[in-house]
Amino acid sequence: MRVLGIDTSCDETSVAVVEQRRILANRVYGQNALHQPFGGVVPEVAARAHVERLLPALHEALEEAGGADAVAVTTRPGLIGPLLVGLSAAKAFALAKGLPLVGVHHLEAHVAAAYLLDPAPEPPFVALIASGGHTVLYHLPEAGRYLCLGQTADDAAGECFDKVATILGLPYPGGPSLERAAQGGRRDAYRFPRPLRDDPGDGFSFSGIKTAVLYLVKGQDGRRRDADVARPPLADLAASAQEAIVDVLAHKAVRAAARSGSGKLVVGGGVAANGRLRELLLERCAAAGVQAFIPPRALCTDNAAMIAMRGSELLEAGVRDGFDLDADPYAE
Ligand code: KG4
Ligand code: ZN
Repeated sequence: MRVLGIDTSCDETSVAVVEQRRILANRVYGQNALHQPFGGVVPEVAARAHVERLLPALHEALEEAGGADAVAVTTRPGLIGPLLVGLSAAKAFALAKGLPLVGVHHLEAHVAAAYLLDPAPEPPFVALIASGGHTVLYHLPEAGRYLCLGQTADDAAGECFDKVATILGLPYPGGPSLERAAQGGRRDAYRFPRPLRDDPGDGFSFSGIKTAVLYLVKGQDGRRRDADVARPPLADLAASAQEAIVDVLAHKAVRAAARSGSGKLVVGGGVAANGRLRELLLERCAAAGVQAFIPPRALCTDNAAMIAMRGSELLEAGVRDGFDLDADPYAE
């Protein structure tokens, strides 16, 4: 069965077709240039851009794959306007072609991206999903069962990357900018906090890292101007802040995987595209005897192949949604 996947949950317009864990097409159109002047994603601008890009992307993906037999679409969580654009298109296509329709949870799909790997992980395993809006550790005791072990109490890891980048005056989008700025910098130049790193629970907290960087750069009252003081070397600051974020993520994810007894760790979400996080995860997984499954960068950041993959899994389990399917922006 060729499953069409559609994702318009944030600022990427993506359409893909997956058959038996094989990607037949995966089109991803970003909107960085549109949101760059605002320093962040503007939901209304994103929704309008999805309206313009979605149909061309749909035609391209269908032509490349030679058609589709079912439709999977992200319905939750995400920005409501953007989600509704993809959902409306998915319903229209499914209705017109008489195809089964299934709604997909975006974070579950980030986990399912690992099923596109060869070799692919089979549950049980632990999964770390670190994106712009979420940072979650899941335990999958069996296929399709997602148990939340812990999540962030405040900022998501990607949000922390983005906010630190803004404080350092780096261009949008912040995550990749911070990674670039950190190249050649000393990771131990500044000792930023590692919130909850050694807490026995599986929760996260990242807002303190951003605050520590802010105080260092702008002073305790947040008002210091560049002219007042020599700014610390940017590469060292970026490398040290990046290290604080990825150290906590890697430490807690590997510990949870080891503790679960499954000995397997799946990693996904935009932050998993970070080279230093990937390096640390591989190092620590090897040391702990945990098998790591980290998709290539293009399958870590938002893409519709993962939506089609998770959709295939649901369809195979017999799940079907009706045309009253709705979007749920705040779904857990
Ligand atoms: O999963 P994703 O593409 O979209 C959401 O579902 O949120 O994740 C986007 C997040 C953003 O915060 C972005 O800054 C971060 O992932 N990100 C990175 C990198 N690439 C994207 N963070 C650190 N290093 C990167 N190379
Ligand atoms: Zn995502």
